[in-house]
Amino acid sequence: ITIRLATVDDLQAMQNANLNNLPENYTLKYYLYHLLSWPQASFVATTTDPELVGQDIDSVKQVKKDIQYVGRGEKVVGYVLGKMNDDADTTDTTPHGHVTSLSVMRTYRRMGIADKLMRQCLYALCETYKAEYVSLHVRESNRAALHLYKDTLQFEVISIEKSYYQDGEDAYYMKKNLKLDD
Ligand code: ACO
Repeated sequence: ITIRLATVDDLQAMQNANLNNLPENYTLKYYLYHLLSWPQASFVATTTDPELVGQDIDSVKQVKKDIQYVGRGEKVVGYVLGKMNDDADTTDTTPHGHVTSLSVMRTYRRMGIADKLMRQCLYALCETYKAEYVSLHVRESNRAALHLYKDTLQFEVISIEKSYYQDGEDAYYMKKNLKLDD
């Protein structure tokens, strides 16, 4: 597994992974907005499929429409989409990052991939974009993600946002301080 910066060539594969893994989906335009605005803040986890290395990628795409190969047999198995806060309405003027979306394809879970993606993203938001903290929303029923954020990465629950999700589920609003002296 390789963790690397996401590029425009990965967008379709990231969107596909998101559609597979989460009910919260976004337009390609919104992915592109992330990559163009904060090109160092989003990452993909990829693996090379030995059977496909060296094959013409367009013919591969036709055969396996559900899996996104981004070139030379490389397939995207996870992604993290990160950004800096750019909400003009916010009262908090502290520069801070936000994790818009994170997911790992089912057969690649529990291998530490999400942890690695998140750490790369947090590091970039802090070092490159000078984020003092990073925030995210997570479903209160999402045990796997809550374990990752709370226990592994030491995010704190700041508040509960009632009916944050379209189906009415509440979200935990979580934060992690990124200041080096904390
Ligand atoms: N139940 C309990 N703990 C779990 C589970 C689980 N199902 N899955 C992972 N964990 C724990 C791991 O044991 C590990 O803990 P440790 O540090 O104590 O050993 C920690 O979480 C990190 O595990 P990873 O292997 O890095 O996580 P993984 O690569 O499996 O990805 C993820 C976790 C992203 C939540 C994955 O399950 C997934 O894609 N789920 C569906 C999409 C999703 O829920 N995304 C997050 C939405 S919130 C948002 O996007 C901001």
